Amino acid sequence: MPLMTTRPMFDLAYDGGFAVGAFNVNNMEITQGIIDACAKERSPLILQISKGARKYANIRYLKHIIDAAVEEHPELPIAIHCDHGDTLDLIQTCINDGYTSVMLDGSHHPFDQNVRLTAGAVKLAHAAGVVVEAELGMLGGIEEDIVGLDAAEYEKNVEKFLTDPQEAANFYRSTNIDSLAVAIGTSHGAYKFKHEAKLAFNRIEQLMQTCPGLPLVMHGSSSVPQEFIDLINRYGGDMPNAKGVPEDQINMAVTKYGVCKVNIDTDLRLALTAKIREVFATKPAEFDPRNYLGPARDAIVTMVSHKLHVLNSAGKAEAVIRQWEKLGKPLPAYYTRRKGT
Ligand code: G3H
Ligand code: 13P
Ligand code: ZN
Repeated sequence: MPLMTTRPMFDLAYDGGFAVGAFNVNNMEITQGIIDACAKERSPLILQISKGARKYANIRYLKHIIDAAVEEHPELPIAIHCDHGDTLDLIQTCINDGYTSVMLDGSHHPFDQNVRLTAGAVKLAHAAGVVVEAELGMLGGIEEDIVGLDAAEYEKNVEKFLTDPQEAANFYRSTNIDSLAVAIGTSHGAYKFKHEAKLAFNRIEQLMQTCPGLPLVMHGSSSVPQEFIDLINRYGGDMPNAKGVPEDQINMAVTKYGVCKVNIDTDLRLALTAKIREVFATKPAEFDPRNYLGPARDAIVTMVSHKLHVLNSAGKAEAVIRQWEKLGKPLPAYYTRRKGT
């Protein structure tokens, strides 16, 4: 059962020219679509759970769905990650629930407070064999909303909100984190850019220099496939001007600049919504959920399979498992306690 932390994944991804996809899960069909694609492409993966997902699905249900996926695919390296954790209580709960990786996102706090919170999360997590992702800088989308910044204003001044390389080095030294989410021009949600979509590659390069050995994470990395936007708009939706990160830029950030983890949620939502809308519009008499959730799940398989090639992680599962074995198959304390190994 290769459930693991992200450590063996990032060990290889760091200078291996690939990144691990971190996909947000909220229900069974999304989880199955992701896992089936990764099985087909023999790719490592991270299943991430937001605070909203815990609340929506009830974490007990979600955990059992994920456990089923892990059991179904013992050949796949899988990490379970807390996405955008905001308090130490939540981090401790996730550790107790058996997550193998947690994110403490203190990026909206002043630097010193972010350091204190993050260092607290590292203390809790490392004691339990769990790894920690933190964040520095401000992405577009929900993060600018938190501080009440207008989207156009954010895009106009994006340079100002990118992660500062010296600050990142200081943050890394002060917290002992395992990976860092950085603001390099990406943004959460389906409306990422009003103007030309452009990642700050030079900033990634500087961050790699000031924080050697620290795996970098790109949030807000959905590409917002036009085919889904077209379907949604054709079948009664209203998503004009939706725009994502072009796939060639994601591929470049990963293969040329060394980003190790790429977060994708919006594209899963779009695939699901587009296909459900299509069934409802073209077969108005349909009322069996299996007949609209099934095609939606198939669309996720196709979309994620393609994404794994963009991330260049297809075919990397076996190598990650070998690395995990080389490290002595470390598992968080929760699992060693539970399995008695
Ligand atoms: O970055 C945030 C993820 O897309 C999770 O979104 O909080 O609506 O589940 P959520
Ligand atoms: P997207 O909204 O681009 O899918 O980003 C998801 C994300 O960063 C989850 O943490
Ligand atoms: Zn995010």
